[in-house]
Amino acid sequence: MSSVKNLALLAIDQGTTSTRAILFSVQGEILAVSQKELKLLHPHKGWIEQHPGDLWEDTLWVCRNVIADAQRSDIKIAGIGITNQRETTVIWDRETGEPIYNAIVWQDRRTADLCDTIKKSGHEQQITKKTGLLVDPYFSATKIAWILDHIEGARQRAEKGELAFGTVDTFLLWKLTQGKAHTTDITNASRTLLFNIVTRQWDNDLLQLFNIPAGMLPNVSDNVAFFGETKPELLGAAYVIGGMAGDQHAALVGQGCFESGMIKATYGTGCFALMNTGHNCTISSNKLLTTIGYRIGGDTCYALEGSIFTAGAAVQWLRDNLGLLSDAAQSEAVALSVTDSNEVYFVPAFTGLGAPYWKPNARAAITGISRESTSAHVVRAALEAQGYQSRDLIEAMESELNSTDTSEALRIDGGMAGNTFVCQFLADMLGRTVEIPEVMESTAWGAAALAGLYSGLFNSLDNISRTWVCARRYTPQMAEDERNKLYAGWKHAVQAVLN
Ligand code: G3P
Repeated sequence: MSSVKNLALLAIDQGTTSTRAILFSVQGEILAVSQKELKLLHPHKGWIEQHPGDLWEDTLWVCRNVIADAQRSDIKIAGIGITNQRETTVIWDRETGEPIYNAIVWQDRRTADLCDTIKKSGHEQQITKKTGLLVDPYFSATKIAWILDHIEGARQRAEKGELAFGTVDTFLLWKLTQGKAHTTDITNASRTLLFNIVTRQWDNDLLQLFNIPAGMLPNVSDNVAFFGETKPELLGAAYVIGGMAGDQHAALVGQGCFESGMIKATYGTGCFALMNTGHNCTISSNKLLTTIGYRIGGDTCYALEGSIFTAGAAVQWLRDNLGLLSDAAQSEAVALSVTDSNEVYFVPAFTGLGAPYWKPNARAAITGISRESTSAHVVRAALEAQGYQSRDLIEAMESELNSTDTSEALRIDGGMAGNTFVCQFLADMLGRTVEIPEVMESTAWGAAALAGLYSGLFNSLDNISRTWVCARRYTPQMAEDERNKLYAGWKHAVQAVLN
């Protein structure tokens, strides 16, 4: 018989640039990890795709690796949680399971014109009221419509019920259960522009507006549920998938942000800040998104989200496209090698600007370059941009609620949370304490914790909260006038990109 000691939870974290499987103990310790980098395809300017075959095969590969590790250590897997890059859209044949087109990634901007047309037709307000979102190529609806309109025969086949749509969670679940489950969770559903977050149903008016047949949509489930069982021929056993959530929502859970006003920000490819708003489905007047934070045991918790499309991706660009860095971690030492950015600002709008600007066609810029500027100033400016962008978001959040209703500390995670320069600059720019948890893999841990709730290893959100332990804390050190002067310079640089 297994004791809690040799029980573990397996998280599948399918992100934009990599796929990982992480085996966690019930306390949140990492017992095994397997990771595979994922290729992004750029078939045209502004288009970003992935091979669905890679999404699936990499998932299988990383899972098999950690399952083998678990077996070697005599660890029993009590359940699987899936978390994923959100909005990325896959459409496949229900009969064969074969995708009919590449996955269109959340950063893809090809539907910007379609979004403009919809906005001009005056529907945006109604859409926002129902979905909490804005009309932007970021979300799945226009990506689905694009595939149906551009792949021969797709629309007719979708209308006949032959095709299935899913975000990456749904696609992986379908594959892992060999077509038994066509299900998404409520957080991923709430990122499609087709899901009404008030009634918690797919919305017929929106389906009509985006011209998407209802028959291709998955069932929608709470975040803790029986999503399905893995086929033994794939992973060697029938593991129960008991938790599923979009990556930012899983991080909210992993960071233990269960009280209204608590905020987490994850610095991965992009940066996504989510503030728990409890039962209040607050529609933002500052162009933040309203989203379902999680729904567990029939209780819906909403969140306000600020989405920044480029965070870590800016450092990758400096490394891969400009050759200014040999690896991303080097950015910390390079930024600290100069005392300031010498008035250089880096607005990383590579795939448009997200919150609070929402300009899909904006493009990146480096401003304030002078004869004295060096590559170190540019690197530093790219890191400082994370602080400025975050301040844009947090200020927008504060103005939605009484500032006393938001917690003073910001809990952060993701790759950039390991960069001490970024963390200190963030604390300085926000004028808030920045906290980093011991379990830095908040997203994967959140997915594992959801599966833990299903399997009974956790019996309440409190159990999960207790696993959150602060590893490092950064407090603001910068003088107020310096902070405001730097931020004013950022606003000026953004204006140049918006014009
Ligand atoms: O909305 C997109 C987001 O879910 C992607 O997250 O961590 O892959 O950058 P990440």
